[in-house]
Amino acid sequence: MFETNTYIERRNRLKMELESGILLFLGNDLSPMNYPENTYPFRQDSTFLYFWGLDLPGLAAIIDIDENQEILFGRDSTLHDMVWTGAQPSLNHLCLKSGLKDAAALGQLDSVLKSALDKNRRIHFLPQYRPENLIKVQALLGIAPSFVNNFVSNAFIKAVVDQRSIKTEEEVEQIESALDITYEIHLLAMKMSQPGTSEREVVGAMMGIVKAGGASPAFPFIFSVDGQILHNPHHQNVMQDGDIIINDSGVETSMHYASDITRTFPVAGKFTQKQKEIYAVVLDAQLKAIETIKPGMEYRKVHNLACCQITAGLMALGLMRGDVNEAVAAGAHALFMPAGLGHMMGLDVHDMEDLGEDYVGYTNTIRRSSQFGMSHLRLARTLEPGFVVTVEPGIYFIPELIDQWKTEGKFEDFIDYNKVEDYRDFGGIRIEDDVLVHDAGKRVLGKPIAKTVAEVETLSSQIS
Ligand code: GLY
Ligand code: MN
Ligand code: MN
Repeated sequence: MFETNTYIERRNRLKMELESGILLFLGNDLSPMNYPENTYPFRQDSTFLYFWGLDLPGLAAIIDIDENQEILFGRDSTLHDMVWTGAQPSLNHLCLKSGLKDAAALGQLDSVLKSALDKNRRIHFLPQYRPENLIKVQALLGIAPSFVNNFVSNAFIKAVVDQRSIKTEEEVEQIESALDITYEIHLLAMKMSQPGTSEREVVGAMMGIVKAGGASPAFPFIFSVDGQILHNPHHQNVMQDGDIIINDSGVETSMHYASDITRTFPVAGKFTQKQKEIYAVVLDAQLKAIETIKPGMEYRKVHNLACCQITAGLMALGLMRGDVNEAVAAGAHALFMPAGLGHMMGLDVHDMEDLGEDYVGYTNTIRRSSQFGMSHLRLARTLEPGFVVTVEPGIYFIPELIDQWKTEGKFEDFIDYNKVEDYRDFGGIRIEDDVLVHDAGKRVLGKPIAKTVAEVETLSSQIS
């Protein structure tokens, strides 16, 4: 964890912003996979990590703003724990590390909150995404699990989003550590992939590097010749000559700061002419989008610019036609790029998505569009120094979507469906980097990973 003062200062700022009431923080528990003692790897809640720094299951905490009191709730290790899983640091030690004076048994949280409820005091809590914690809120506050998220505190959400959106230097360093490992896995994947290699061999080798580096995947690696499936979780294919692979793989450090990088490369080391042309369009859109990033710029404008670049490129290749701006305004390009350009990144790869994307990426004046494609944009608001965002344009040929739109005759003025048929089995191309917005503009984080056609072909033709 960071120095104790980091957590004290973060909580002090929260107290100032919320002004009154009790803030309830629920840490995560170990979750059973198939029987109680066989659990998924533990992952602490990111907001709990951010304000308390404690990366252990079975914890909760409150900040009583009016009484200026902070209490950590948990339990000390039992003999059973010591025998089977090893002793954990004592509750008092955790308090010291997090800069707290008061600890209490987890069971006392109930009576503390009941007495606050009896006095009609406001208890602020955040949206819950784990069934265990929905049930805990039910036990503590008497709200049925399916209604818990109707009673969350907007003020608490906004205060957390405000703080977590702006990354400090020490947080950016963590993201860059995640990117160091990410660099290694992307290079390995490019060199290791050959015709006849299976996707899962490469994913296994990448995972080995991640684990050996003391990190974990930040999300299930997307590594597939079926790159047209945007978040494809399967790795069952054997790569063939002529295939291109989308490798969207990011890791989180032991402190859980994430990276999120995508590269697309040819299995056999050389793009075909058709692949090269589409790759060039995506790369151009990505570079132009990155160039535009600076404080004060609305991210939806950066998204729009990338969509226009992609549309212009597809028009030059004969897949689209008409006026670029009109096509993008109508949403015709979404046949090829149905996703948003990017998202915030930090302790979560889609940072704070649990708190609500509309709080994280939108404001009272910048509202989410309902148009297909644009509606998937996770980040639209004005960029500020300290934001870390991804820039990840892509062109995807999704047969099911093509068939549906073609049958409906959708955007026939803008889309040449006959030409699109030639690309039906193309797959997809995405290129993604992580970018820090700072006072003077932006910085692409991490060591550069092969990205131009020439760089990608050189690495992909090496054999490791
Ligand atoms: N890796 C998931 C994403 O890029 O959003
Ligand atoms: Mn990604
Ligand atoms: Mn991403």
